[in-house]
Amino acid sequence: MASNTGAPVVVGVDGSEIALHAVRAAAREAAYRHRPLRIVHAFIWPLMGVPLGPAPGAPAEGGLRNQAERCVTEAVAEAGKVAPEVPVTGVVVDGAATAVLLAEARDAALIVLGNRGLGGFAGLLLGSVAVQVSAHADSPVLVVRDESRADGPVVVGVDGSELSREAVGFAFEQAAWRGAELVAVHAWLYPTPVGPGDILPLVYDLDAFREEEERTLAESVAGWSERYPEVTVRRRLVRGSPARALVEESRNAQLVVLGARGRGALGGLLLGSVSHAVLHHAHSPLAIVRKVGTVTRS
Ligand SMILES: Nc1ncnc2c1ncn2[C@@H]1O[C@H](COP(=O)(O)OP(=O)(O)OP(=O)(O)O)[C@@H](O)[C@H]1O
Ligand SMILES: [Mg+2]
Repeated sequence: MASNTGAPVVVGVDGSEIALHAVRAAAREAAYRHRPLRIVHAFIWPLMGVPLGPAPGAPAEGGLRNQAERCVTEAVAEAGKVAPEVPVTGVVVDGAATAVLLAEARDAALIVLGNRGLGGFAGLLLGSVAVQVSAHADSPVLVVRDESRADGPVVVGVDGSELSREAVGFAFEQAAWRGAELVAVHAWLYPTPVGPGDILPLVYDLDAFREEEERTLAESVAGWSERYPEVTVRRRLVRGSPARALVEESRNAQLVVLGARGRGALGGLLLGSVSHAVLHHAHSPLAIVRKVGTVTRS
């Protein structure tokens, strides 16, 4: 596994400061994973039929194509500062950002993005590329918000679903790489149906349900804990809204990890309501895991 070959970590850059934060996070991820880093700038202008070169009489380094190349060159240099041992390639790919990055994600170990980019408007929490790639990418997605902090725990949201168990594994792996504590959070409000046709009792014993929820949390963590004995785990059972609890936890976290969908999600839904809310409001970087089988230690 120390070969620096295999599926790369991919990061999207658009020339914004936040995309450079994403590049630094992606370089660290590539180093943890012993994978190459691929820096991609999607270049929309050839599709628009506008001139791509410098204007007549203007300096030779002007024009849209040169600007796109500079955005990639700058990102490659930034990655080299963070992880000089990681092989890096930088490419300008003609096309719209979302389409280009989703195609890249098909062959990626992880895709990394900023929550915002160059466009949008002040106060927008998530740009359109970040929204669409998070919802559709085949690979796990890491959305970086600001300069990542190196301290604080890795936090994972647990709901007992298959994808949340995968997210727990992903979070264990991250905690091991980062030498961080892992906090596994399971929030619950009321007894919830777990399958179609489930009938809930009108009167129930809250303590019995609390025990049930505690069991869900413990079981989700147990198997992974054996595989990552070096990781210290804290289990947090919270009576309250899961999205609110996870956004709160993200204040002090170095990373939050969630499954794309949970126990309650409708078939075909791309992001569950908790993942959707936390994606918009988290204070920390957020990793979203969409498929089982992403964790290396088994
Ligand atoms: N042209 C692009 N090529 C590669 N990656 C991109 C491109 N545009 C955006 N990204 C990636 O997506 C992240 C989020 O940018 P996004 O475009 O979604 O936000 P925005 O520019 O603030 O809003 P919007 O473009 O929707 O008005 C960026 O930090 C970057 O990682
Ligand atoms: Mg944009």
